[in-house]
Amino acid sequence: MGIEAVRAREAAHFLPVVNRLPVALVEGRGSRVRDADGREYLDLTAGWGVCCIGHCHPELVEAIREQAGRLMQTTNLFYTLPQLELIERLAALTGEALPRSFLVNSGTEAIEGVVKLAHRATRRTKFVSTENSFHGRTLGALQVIGQAKHRDPYAALLREQHVVPYDDLAAAEAAIDEDTAAFIVEPIQGEGGVNVPRDGYLAGLRKLCRAKGALLILDEIQTGIGRTGRWFAWEHEGVTPDVMALGKGLGGGFPLGAFLCTEAVAKTVALGEHGGTYVGNPLASAAGNAVLRVVERDGLVARADELGARLGARLASFAAEHPDRCLGARGRGLLQGLVLADPERAAAIPKRALERGVLVNVTAGRVVRFFPALNIPEEDLWPALDVIFELVAS
Ligand SMILES: Cc1ncc(COP(=O)(O)O)c(C=O)c1O
Repeated sequence: MGIEAVRAREAAHFLPVVNRLPVALVEGRGSRVRDADGREYLDLTAGWGVCCIGHCHPELVEAIREQAGRLMQTTNLFYTLPQLELIERLAALTGEALPRSFLVNSGTEAIEGVVKLAHRATRRTKFVSTENSFHGRTLGALQVIGQAKHRDPYAALLREQHVVPYDDLAAAEAAIDEDTAAFIVEPIQGEGGVNVPRDGYLAGLRKLCRAKGALLILDEIQTGIGRTGRWFAWEHEGVTPDVMALGKGLGGGFPLGAFLCTEAVAKTVALGEHGGTYVGNPLASAAGNAVLRVVERDGLVARADELGARLGARLASFAAEHPDRCLGARGRGLLQGLVLADPERAAAIPKRALERGVLVNVTAGRVVRFFPALNIPEEDLWPALDVIFELVAS
C-alpha cells in the first residue's frame, strides 16, 4: 500500500493530534528501519530514545517471545519472577541508593507515581519544576511540565504552577520553601532542546532540597539506562536523588516505566496507595531484564560515553565551521543536539532527511537531536551524520 493510501485511510479515523512524516515503517533491525515499500532508513531517533539496544534486538525479541508463551499477565496480588529480577537489578544499578521501585507502563505514569509519592512523603502540595522541561502528558505530569504548549490546553484542570529557569540555582533557592514537596528536574533537558546544566547544578539542588525538607526528583526517562554515558545522568555529579523516574530505554521498545526511591521515602506510603492492572507485568518485566542484560554485557554505557564524546566533538566542530547556520552543539553521551540558527530551516530537516534515508528529530524549534541506539554501528552513524551535515550546510 502506498503512503498516500495509508494517509487517506488513517486521516478518516486517527485523532488529529499528531503531524506525521510521509512514511509507514514496517520493520526494524539494529539502527535501520524499512518502510512499506522496502526502502531502508538509518535511524538517529531510536524510536524517541527508546530502542537503546537497537530495533528488534534478537535477545529482547526472544525474551518477549519466551515470556509471552509462559505468562503474560497476572494481577499484582501475586509475585512474579520477572518483576522480582527487574526490581533487584534496578536497585543494584543505583548502588542500592534507591532500593525500592515500582514498575509502570510509560514515562508519564512514572511521573504520576513520583508526584504522588512526594506528596505522601512530605504531606506537602507544592512542586517546583523548570522552564522548558518535559515530563509527560498525563495530568500529574502536566502539573509540573515547563512547556506551556502542552499544559495550556488543559490549564483549567490544573493547579497553580511553580516553574523556575533551568540551570539557575538562585531561582531554585527562591522557589523551594517549607511548603515544597519536591523539585523535579531532568538532569539534561531532552525535549526542551538538549540543555545541559552547568556542573554543580544537581549538587546545588540536592543541598537546597535537603535544607527545606523537600525531595529531589530526577526525571531520567530520557537520560537513564546509559544514554549519557552513565547508567543514570546523576552519576556524572555524584548526586543521589530521593526519587527517580525511568521509562523509554528501560523497555527497549516494550512499554515500560519505573519509579525508584530511597528507603526513607518508601516508608511513608501505605498499602493500597498506588497500584494498577498492568504494574509489574511479567512480559514488560522480561523485556526490561533483557535490555539491562544486553546493555550491561555489551558495555553499552561506556560505549555511549566514548562514541557520544566523538559525536559531540564532530557536532561542535561542524557548528564552529558553519557559524552562519549553527549556534552551537551540546549534549552528553548519545544525547546530543546541534543548534541551528534558523528555525524554519530546522523545521524542514526531518522531512529532507527522510528523503535522504535518515530518521532524525528536531526539538525545541531549532535543535537537531541525536539519540540513536547505544549500539549503533559506526558504519550507520557517520554516514547518517554526513547527510544531516549536508542538509544543514546546503
Ligand atoms: C524527560 C521525559 N520525561 C517524561 C517523558 C514522558 O514519557 P512517555 O512519553 O513514555 O509518557 C518523556 C518523553 O519524551 C521525557 O523525555
